[in-house]
Amino acid sequence: MKLKIAVLPGDGIGPEISRVGVEVMKAVAERFGHEFTFDYGLAGAAAIRATGNPFPEETLKLCKDSDAVLFSAVGDPEYDNNPEAKVRPEQGLLAMRKQLGLFANIRPIQTFPALIDKSPLKAEIVGDADFVCVRELTGGMYFGEKYESDDKAYDTNFYTRPEIERILKVGFELASRRKKHLTVVDKANVLASSRLWRKIAKEMESKWPEVTTDYMFVDNAAMKMLQDPCFFDVMVTENTFGDILTDEASVISGSMGLLPSSSIGESTPVFEPIHGSWPQAAGLDIANPLAQILSVAMLLEHFGLEEEGKTVRKAVDASIAEGVVTPDLGKDGKSEYGTQAVGKWISDQISSHAI
Ligand code: IPM
Ligand code: MN
Repeated sequence: MKLKIAVLPGDGIGPEISRVGVEVMKAVAERFGHEFTFDYGLAGAAAIRATGNPFPEETLKLCKDSDAVLFSAVGDPEYDNNPEAKVRPEQGLLAMRKQLGLFANIRPIQTFPALIDKSPLKAEIVGDADFVCVRELTGGMYFGEKYESDDKAYDTNFYTRPEIERILKVGFELASRRKKHLTVVDKANVLASSRLWRKIAKEMESKWPEVTTDYMFVDNAAMKMLQDPCFFDVMVTENTFGDILTDEASVISGSMGLLPSSSIGESTPVFEPIHGSWPQAAGLDIANPLAQILSVAMLLEHFGLEEEGKTVRKAVDASIAEGVVTPDLGKDGKSEYGTQAVGKWISDQISSHAI
């Protein structure tokens, strides 16, 4: 298969993990006889410095002309600590999501038996938790009308019926392909927008009779995720709730550095780790590249390359089982392997047919 990949390394640890992601894709291409080409674009603080725009026209064009985007991370303390900043790196990510129409963000939460002691939860609670959060990505408070002055500010949590229907459809369909359990997470006891979500979800239920649908308030869901993560199969929720719940969910597996995601919608799909740019670690070769590598697996599977995706996942499992991991997953927070060494080990496993 021929795939044209737009690579957006972004900021902080982004370029380091991006390099690993590309290396893994090259190993897959060589082993399975595919032709993947890579073109690089600027996003985030790196793009602001070069062009003044966190998601320049050129990058948008590159993304639109590609089959998939391999994204890493954006964000920079220079902007975080400056409330006066007019442009922010994160606006680049939001612009990309909006301009590519990426309304569905799929965040699978998977546990790794070898890492169970890294989880802040007890092993018997974590069990074999395996669920997916479907987060709406181009609506809600992130994109609703905003106002900001010195003594007043607001963000509007605005959703329309078509926006809600299309994301719920993704949730129902995914649940029907998995364990057939969908949890709609909202705050319908307080928010009008949530009440519309719930009304529409109830209308849609009958189209997927094989799926058991339940409804949970977001505060309750945040608690349930820690008490009984195995309860969930697929959860679907709005943009802001999904942002918060997936950070919480990510640590169940032991490290935020393990969670990949895909964003799909009207144009080119994007594959990215859910962690941020961790600027303090930039250049130190300590960032965990596994979330980026697992994003590559999601990318491959998106194009029907199941065997290839499985091979990448097996190589990741092997690295964890063999202890070839970055310090966040090492014993006592230490490891002799850095970002690039872990990446190289995994690529070598793929190239050498070791798995
Ligand atoms: C995420 C991130 C982004 C978000 C930030 C960087 C704008 O936290 O992808 O979860 O809030 O969506
Ligand atoms: Mn987030």
